[in-house]
This record gives sequence, structure tokens and C-alpha cells, in this order.
Amino acid sequence: MPLHFDRQYAADALAELDVDRDALDGDVLAAHQRVLNGETASPEMLGWRQMLLDPDDALLESVADTANEIRERADALLCIGIGGSYLGAEAVMQALVPPFSDDGPEVLFAGHHLGPDYHRRLFEYLDGKSVYINIISKSGTTLEPALAFRLARRFLEDRFDDADRRIIATTDAQRGTLHDFAVERGYRRYVVPDDVGGRFSVLTPVGLLPIAASGVDVRTLFYGAVAEARELTEADASHPALQYAADRHAFHESGYKTEVLASMDPRLTGIGDWWQQLFGESEGKEGKGLFPVTLQYTTDLHSVGQYVQQGQRVLVETFLRIDDADDGPAVKEEDSDPDGLNYLAGKPYGFVNEKAYEGTAEAHAEGGVPNWTLTLSRLDAETLGRLLYFYEHAVAVSGTMLDVDPFNQPGVETYKQKMFSLLGRP
Ligand code: PA5
Repeated sequence: MPLHFDRQYAADALAELDVDRDALDGDVLAAHQRVLNGETASPEMLGWRQMLLDPDDALLESVADTANEIRERADALLCIGIGGSYLGAEAVMQALVPPFSDDGPEVLFAGHHLGPDYHRRLFEYLDGKSVYINIISKSGTTLEPALAFRLARRFLEDRFDDADRRIIATTDAQRGTLHDFAVERGYRRYVVPDDVGGRFSVLTPVGLLPIAASGVDVRTLFYGAVAEARELTEADASHPALQYAADRHAFHESGYKTEVLASMDPRLTGIGDWWQQLFGESEGKEGKGLFPVTLQYTTDLHSVGQYVQQGQRVLVETFLRIDDADDGPAVKEEDSDPDGLNYLAGKPYGFVNEKAYEGTAEAHAEGGVPNWTLTLSRLDAETLGRLLYFYEHAVAVSGTMLDVDPFNQPGVETYKQKMFSLLGRP
């Protein structure tokens, strides 16, 4: 099974809640049916699912061709975007592109914050390199990427005769400042479909182009998600994505406030950041939703792990792990046992990590943090594609059960209005 969902350490806490499981299963199935039938809030925003049921192979090929050109000609690809316009790409690359590898262009990000020092040093670093730019903004007006793009475009135009060829714009099909500018300049363009919101867009060109440029087989990634979407179309309440949605709803309704997604491998850190946006923007409205927090274990066990174990008892937790206990360098036996580690002789890193996970899951459950474990049988493009859809479907169902619109983000506008007024925008 590519994805395995274990509820062992949530079971006792669930049993103690005042919840009628049959009614909960009925509610989750009803919400699931609304997703399948296009009867959710904002039903016009369900394109992230429809595009998997009706795959556009020509688009996948076009993305792969453009990515090949970038891989052949660029030392660096600068991806400019924020929120849903970069988190998915970063997550998949972090998971699948081996660290310390110099195969293909370096993929860098800009416009994902307003850090002045970062944006100065970035262009100093890029000087002298062959650079391509992918500017990604559905609205085409978001300040952070628009500012970075202005800098990046000037950087390219000052250095390359074929600057316009090196800029690829991923934006709305028909309207917006970026769309109009890209048409005027004749940039290559990819479309963010109208019916796909930013945080659901990783499997559109928003994520696929940077991911393909990093060397990942995007067709396999995409078809992994297709497989999960098809499986969920036939699912009953025992499907892990629906159990997850139902369980977290039960905890939410019983007063739990926060969900931790704890990844047991640094390659999954970006998935945690992507998940955090997906659930935070989809559910955190109208005074509702579990606050999503992503942690990296065992690193964070030496920091906020203290809080998880003994702080306020309002947390639930998901462990995200890879089934790789036999992997990594093994501990070698040493005659004098200078560091007292001979008891681990012959054991690979993966084994030690596995025991850390097992011990932590049990300790947290005993400390009053109900937890689930989602295990990837292996970390490859297909399994990751499945995981992306698993969470997209789960949040659509879970948000529908909460009776919020999982596809809007009205709260994001509030800071923008105040910032623009301070900036004196006309
Ligand atoms: O999920 C979302 O819709 C947001 O996070 C957007 O992706 C983010 O605000 C960037 O918007 P845009 O692509 O329009 O620049």
C-alpha cells in the first residue's frame, strides 16, 4: 500500500469523546459526496480534482519540453511566487531532488517574502550565471512577487539579449497585470486554471514547471495523484483520507485547537509547509479550524517537543514518515566502544529514526496528544503525487464538514489593505 494510515494512538482518545461514530461516518461520507458531485461551497473551484479525472497529457509534455530547455541552458532557475504559487514546488523538490547534487540548474525562490537582504544578495549571487525566470502569480498583482519580478526582469534585460525568451509567466489565461504584460512582451505563458486556487495548484504548471526543471518526472507525480483521486472516487468511510477528515473533525468539535504535522525525515519538511498552508487557509475562518503547525522530528523534539509532551492539552498530531528503517549508513562496531554506541552496531540510521518515531508516538499518546501516522511506502514521484491528492481531498471534505468555504481566503486581504494604505498605493 503506497500510503498507510495508522490510528492506533488516536483510538483511545477518540473512544473517550462523546461522538457517535456511525453519525460521524455518515457526515464524512456526505461531505465526500458533495466533493465528488461538485456540491461544496464555491463548487466552481473544484478544478484541482477534475483535472486529474481528465488528464491533459499535451500540457504535461509541453511542461517537460520547457523544463528540458531550462535544464540544458540555465545554471539557475529563479521561481518568483508566494503562498500557493511556490510552496507546492518547493515541497516536491525538497522531497525528491537529492541534497548535495549538482545535476541540473539550481532552483531558487524570490518574492516569497519581503526580506531586503535576501533580495539584494540573491541578485549578487546570480550575477555571471545563466538565469531563467518563472514568474508565477494567478492574480498577477500580488505585491511580493511583483516587486521581485521587477528586479529580476531588469537583471535579465541588462545581461541577456534573449531575456524575453528566458522569462516564463504562469498566470491567468485571460486577464491581470502579469497576463497583459506577458502578452505584450511575448513571454512564454502557462495558465493557472480559473477553477484551481493557489494552494491546490501544485499539479498545474504552477508547480509542475519548476518541479520538472529540477529533474523530477512530473508525469509520474501527476499520475500518482490521478491514481489516488480515482481510488477516492470509489471510496467508503474506511478510506484513510476520510478517516483522517472524520477523526480531526471529532477532535475539533470536542475542543482540540491545534494539529501538528511532524515529519520524521527532513525531505518531508516542505510537505509540512505545504500542508500547513493548505489546511490553514482552507479551514481557518469564521472562528473555526485546527491551527496547523508543522514540525521536523527529531530536531524539534529538542525544542517545542517539551510543549507537545506537557503543554496545554489541546493538540492532535500526525506523524509523516517513510518506510525506510533499513536505510542509511550503519553504525560500525569499535573495539573500545569509546562513545558507548556499540549496542547499535550493525543498525542503520533508518532503524534508529524508526525507534525514535515509535517512542515519540507512544510518549505523546501517553502525554495526552492523540496521534495518527501516515506512512509512505517509499519516497518517489508516484507516492508523493498520491500524498498531495490525499491531503487536498481530505481538506475539501474536512472544510465542508466544518461548514466553511475551503476554497476562499478572505482573511488574507486584511493585511494587504493596511499595508497598501501605508505604502500610499493609489
Ligand atoms: O492559496 C492561495 O490562493 C494563496 O496562497 C495564493 O497562492 C497566494 O496569495 C499568491 O497569489 P497569486 O498567485 O495570485 O500571486
